[in-house]
Amino acid sequence: MADGVTEILNRTDRDIAHAAALLAAGGLVAFGTETVYGLGADATNAKAVAAIFEAKGRPHFNPLICHYENEDAVFAHVEASAVARRLADTFWPGPLTLVLPRRITCPVALLAGAGLETLAVRVPAHPVAQRLIAALGRPIAAPSANRSGGVSPTSVTHVMAGLGGRIAAVIESGPCRVGVESTVLDLSGPAPFLLRPGGVSLESLEAAIGPVGRGVIPGQAEQARTLRSPGLLVSHYAPTLPLRMNATAVADDEALLAFGPPLAEAGLVFQLSADGNLNEAAARLFEGLHWLDAQASADGLRKIAAMAVPAHGLGLAINDRLSRAAAPRA
Ligand code: TXA
Ligand code: MG
Repeated sequence: MADGVTEILNRTDRDIAHAAALLAAGGLVAFGTETVYGLGADATNAKAVAAIFEAKGRPHFNPLICHYENEDAVFAHVEASAVARRLADTFWPGPLTLVLPRRITCPVALLAGAGLETLAVRVPAHPVAQRLIAALGRPIAAPSANRSGGVSPTSVTHVMAGLGGRIAAVIESGPCRVGVESTVLDLSGPAPFLLRPGGVSLESLEAAIGPVGRGVIPGQAEQARTLRSPGLLVSHYAPTLPLRMNATAVADDEALLAFGPPLAEAGLVFQLSADGNLNEAAARLFEGLHWLDAQASADGLRKIAAMAVPAHGLGLAINDRLSRAAAPRA
């Protein structure tokens, strides 16, 4: 598909049916979810799943999230526990991904789970995602619809900039309400463990199921944690320009990613949230990184300075993405 034409589809029944037919034939279709746009393939078709890695230029060991129509469909493929059921009842459809043991009969391609005995599953809340999964009648494996290491897309424009010509189609799905990826929670070990902060806050998870482990797994090195969830590679959400966090001043060659009142010296500014609302900031984060990246380069600026964002609620996910963007490049 490297020099093919990518169709831009709409939310009509006819276009959704066409998109499902493309998926059924092994094609790749990008579609909106409430978090970010996903790059979808029929999860039961290993060749189609392999095409995802190729289109993204992504390391093959990164396991993908499988998107399901509803809770029953999920638990037909992975093992349910009482905690998993409670979380599913509370947060699905929505931006929570659970890592659970595959059932022996699970028809999802092993490649989708990067060969692991576990599978990452979620039920998305976006109507386009739901209609597409229902039309296909099978789960859809979908990472974020960007080239590997790039910023996650929250619009068709972002998707086309990274993957245009490399995928069969993209569905114009309207805005991504949440704007950061789903929270990934590992339920396959002895206790629930947060692998990636995201659209569902740690506080609300703990309100539903009690304490959730996070940080470095006791007795294991950071390296072991990233192997366990390889998508958590440092330097993962990288704009082209270097980014630094917790800026309290802006240099002449810097653009500003602002949270709350912008720093006085700033010229080019992207405002995450004027009144310091973390949910609004999360929803605008990737938009801001894409925009600043393009605009700052055009204006001859060389860096992005990001103001501090408080580390609670969705601020945890925002800081996680910013620290990856700020990490030294490999
Ligand atoms: O919001 C989202 O989650 C978006 C939309 C499209 O649903 N998808 C997304 O997928 O962000 P992706 O592939 O970019 O991130 C999947 C994350 C990675 O950090 C990966 O390592 C982790 O989930 N993951 C997937 N399967 C896993 C498994 N079996 N065990 C541990 N981590 C897993
Ligand atoms: Mg991603």
